[in-house]
Amino acid sequence: MALEYSQESRQALESMKAEYPELRSVLIPALKLAQQDHGSLTKEVIALAAAEAGVTEAVAAGVATFYHNLHTGPIGRHMIMVCTTISCQLAGADAVVSRFEELLDISIGGTTGDGLISLIAVECLACCGNSPAVQVDYDYFESFQPEQCDAVVEALHAGRHPEGGAGVPGGNPVKGTEVGA
Ligand code: FES
Repeated sequence: MALEYSQESRQALESMKAEYPELRSVLIPALKLAQQDHGSLTKEVIALAAAEAGVTEAVAAGVATFYHNLHTGPIGRHMIMVCTTISCQLAGADAVVSRFEELLDISIGGTTGDGLISLIAVECLACCGNSPAVQVDYDYFESFQPEQCDAVVEALHAGRHPEGGAGVPGGNPVKGTEVGA
């Protein structure tokens, strides 16, 4: 059976397509929604988004492999992304990574056995002035300290938003920053 978007994603895409002057502009939201609906951007899921945006699968794959919020392999339901680029590294990102690894019992790049949380290192999150920076799903945390890791993990296990984060503008085109989105 051919892959489809969920009804909610379909509605979101149709309203975006009505606003964008060029169909291809919907490619990134189409990829994000396809990932949300189908778990990760496999070849078939990329093809779904490519058709939606009127671009070739090669173009869609190029975009899908460029952004850290898009994943071509299996991911956890929640993503903890720690910036490990130079400013954050100098400000202690390695200690943040170590604490998350300890709490989650996984290595960076891994996913917890229950599939709930993935921990990944990402490039600059564009808040170098307040490093280290961490992104949890679609929320940003600046000047993040290892002592804050426990509260983040506890909140995700409890189905809550970790406190203190700021939503990423345009983060989730359908569900805002809801936990479990
Ligand atoms: S280097 Fe981490 S936010 Fe820029």
